[in-house]
Amino acid sequence: MFQGLRNRCALACVFIAAVAAQTTVTVSGTASHPIPSTLFLQNRAFQQVTANTTAALYAWSAINNAAINVIADPVPVSSALPNSLQLTIPQGSTGQVGFGNEGYWGIKVDADWTYNASFYYKFPTSSSFEGSITVGLQSSTGQIYASAAVPISGSQTAWEQVAVSLKPSTSPTSTANNFTITVDGVSAAGQTIDFAMLSLFPPTFKNRANGLRIDIANTLYEMKPSFFRLPGGNNLGQTTATRWQWNATVGALVDRPGRMGDWGYINTDGLGLLEYMYLCEDLELQPIMAVWAGYSLGGTSLAEDELWPYIQQAIDQINFVIGDPSESAAAALRASLGHPEPFTLNYVEVGNEDFFASTSYIYRWRDFAGNLTALFPQINFIATTYPFDPIIEPTPKQYDNHVYQTPTWFAENSFYYDSFERNGTYYFQGEYAAISTNATNLYGTVSEGRLMYPTMQSSSGEAAYMTGFERNADIVFAASYAPLLMNTADYQWTPNLVSFDAANVYPSTSYYVQQLFSINRGDEYLPSTLPDANGTVFWSVTRNVTAGEVLIKIANPVGTVSDLTFILPYTNVSPTGISTVLTGPETASNSPSTPDAVVPVTSTITTGATFNYTVPGYSVSVLTVKAS
Ligand SMILES: *[C@@H]1O[C@H](CO)[C@@H](O)[C@H](O)[C@H]1NC(C)=O
Ligand SMILES: *[C@@H]1O[C@H](CO)[C@@H](O)[C@H](O)[C@H]1NC(C)=O
Ligand SMILES: *[C@@H]1O[C@H](CO)[C@@H](O)[C@H](O)[C@H]1NC(C)=O
Ligand SMILES: *[C@@H]1O[C@H](CO)[C@@H](O)[C@H](O)[C@H]1NC(C)=O
Ligand SMILES: *[C@@H]1O[C@H](CO)[C@@H](O)[C@H](O)[C@H]1NC(C)=O
Ligand SMILES: *[C@@H]1O[C@H](CO)[C@@H](O)[C@H](O)[C@H]1NC(C)=O
Ligand SMILES: *[C@@H]1O[C@H](CO)[C@@H](O)[C@H](O)[C@H]1NC(C)=O
Ligand SMILES: *[C@@H]1O[C@H](CO)[C@@H](O)[C@H](O)[C@H]1NC(C)=O
Ligand SMILES: *[C@@H]1O[C@H](CO)[C@@H](O)[C@H](O)[C@H]1NC(C)=O
Ligand SMILES: *[C@@H]1O[C@H](CO)[C@@H](O)[C@H](O)[C@H]1NC(C)=O
Repeated sequence: MFQGLRNRCALACVFIAAVAAQTTVTVSGTASHPIPSTLFLQNRAFQQVTANTTAALYAWSAINNAAINVIADPVPVSSALPNSLQLTIPQGSTGQVGFGNEGYWGIKVDADWTYNASFYYKFPTSSSFEGSITVGLQSSTGQIYASAAVPISGSQTAWEQVAVSLKPSTSPTSTANNFTITVDGVSAAGQTIDFAMLSLFPPTFKNRANGLRIDIANTLYEMKPSFFRLPGGNNLGQTTATRWQWNATVGALVDRPGRMGDWGYINTDGLGLLEYMYLCEDLELQPIMAVWAGYSLGGTSLAEDELWPYIQQAIDQINFVIGDPSESAAAALRASLGHPEPFTLNYVEVGNEDFFASTSYIYRWRDFAGNLTALFPQINFIATTYPFDPIIEPTPKQYDNHVYQTPTWFAENSFYYDSFERNGTYYFQGEYAAISTNATNLYGTVSEGRLMYPTMQSSSGEAAYMTGFERNADIVFAASYAPLLMNTADYQWTPNLVSFDAANVYPSTSYYVQQLFSINRGDEYLPSTLPDANGTVFWSVTRNVTAGEVLIKIANPVGTVSDLTFILPYTNVSPTGISTVLTGPETASNSPSTPDAVVPVTSTITTGATFNYTVPGYSVSVLTVKAS
């Protein structure tokens, strides 16, 4: 979220034990899993798999005695999708014969929803077959929840797209369900049928085509984030060849080849650049968009004389988002896809974590930022090396800082930005999270202290650090916890802000911290007695001027209770205020087994120009007091 605060130092808040600080903070960030959430079929288009292997059939299974195989199709549905699923119905078949998909570790079947299912089919060899395909949603034991029949003809040797809607008759609690495609075994015995680009969508957030899972999108929306960093934070590429390329992610789904993503699994790119932009519009936030800048996470930097085509691709990417359709082919493509007006784009990151290749960043930043700034002077370009290390030109006005540490580190570093020179340089805390309690083995296993889910200790440590964002909101313009989303069935990194499975969403304690900071922003920062940098309780104070409210945020990342007295510099202070408190045991986590272990609790508290507040152990409090 962007910090909206201005520092106003006129009002001194004096007081005995607590009060200091500033405003606004953040959320959104890096996806540790593509929002798969957005589609229900896994491996729906056989992208990037090797034909004729078991692995190519991942998530697909035969029903009855069907023979299924992924083939390198001599007549593929598109040049982007070379593979098809070939179904052969053996002689002597009876009953329904075909195949199913298990979804992203389950499929939620809900009688309140109408599902959109579609696929392409063809007969590789013309036949006299006339019959139908049954499209369905079934339990893994074959109980039918929804089905629709589609007539097909053996004379159909060119690819034909079929779309049907499915309306379940019931809402089973289990998500061990399948999307199924079957034919009558008796009449279809001996036939071979090819399938491509199979798709199943539930209703989506704001009914967007290729859109977001409603429950996940609502969870993000309720956090009131200000920005979304894309594509997926670090997901720019392990190699030059497999880098994220905007133009491979837009247009018809059959024209998207997908790619091997940065975390070892295939990305469908169903959530492409246009879908990311609609995500930003629909969640009422703005993008912080990255361009690939000549360095791949696998460790390769391009030489300076190789950069130009990639600079051009970055220019095209930005033009797709904001260009004039009459001047740019990329912008004209956006217009042809239904969005002639430019999207909002104020921030562009040049690379990601390019501190891994800081020597080559000297010329890569020079050439990328040099060309891009000349063409798009209105955009703020963000450098991704360590601040001022190395010295790069043109001088960056923005840097992206990342830090993963222990809860204790975050508390001890809540004054991290206070010493930064105020000289026209601004900072984006683009990734941060308390990930482990093991300072000597931060990235170790869960049994070595790595957190599976955020805990009250880790979340209150982050909150202590975030009070520093508010105090330094004049230079820290945005911050985002990372990663944002985790599918509990398959993940690369823990902990994450929000977890989900096929049916449910699990906002973590850190999610609630982000939300508390986000929905309680002031528009000015009120200086106050500073917390003791070596102490155990941290705070920041802001004021919403129009609402006439003082907003006090207090983080206590240890078990010891603290008593604070606040002295407010106002004559008219309401005798009561509101406290919203997130508190629980040190190791308490919201997880699939205990989804609501810790949630914010709102109460009325006694306030006044001077008032006491007892800060619970392992807590994050927001006190709202009317004062003028
Ligand atoms: C597919 O694999 C099978 C089993 O390994 C092999 O017999 C067959 O020739 C392969 N087909 C193609 C088209 O590669
Ligand atoms: C149905 O889904 C289950 C997992 O929920 C999977 O084990 C099974 O193979 C799937 N069956 C079909 C036909 O897709
Ligand atoms: C599902 O299909 C219907 C009918 O074609 C369409 O109106 C709706 O927008 C589709 N939903 C999504 C999420 O694509
Ligand atoms: C995307 O554009 C690049 C040139 O910038 C081109 O090399 C590449 O083939 C394009 N990819 C697709 C899928 O169109
Ligand atoms: C643009 O990039 C080219 C190729 O890398 C480089 O030679 C040139 O100096 C850059 N221009 C600016 C204004 O930075
Ligand atoms: C801003 O301050 C940092 C040290 O905090 C220094 O390294 C950098 O050069 C300064 N930037 C400008 C533009 O003066
Ligand atoms: C921290 O990690 C080390 C391995 O480097 C392990 O030996 C140690 O037990 C861990 N400490 C805790 C408290 O889990
Ligand atoms: C201040 O409060 C008003 C009224 O509740 C609200 O509309 C506004 O968004 C708040 N300001 C900030 C910075 O959140
Ligand atoms: C407080 O912390 C600072 C920096 O972390 C350290 O230099 C200093 O010695 C500490 N002071 C006390 C009294 O522990
Ligand atoms: C705050 O607590 C102190 C210490 O217990 C007490 O002396 C004082 O009266 C309290 N102030 C208020 C306003 O309750």
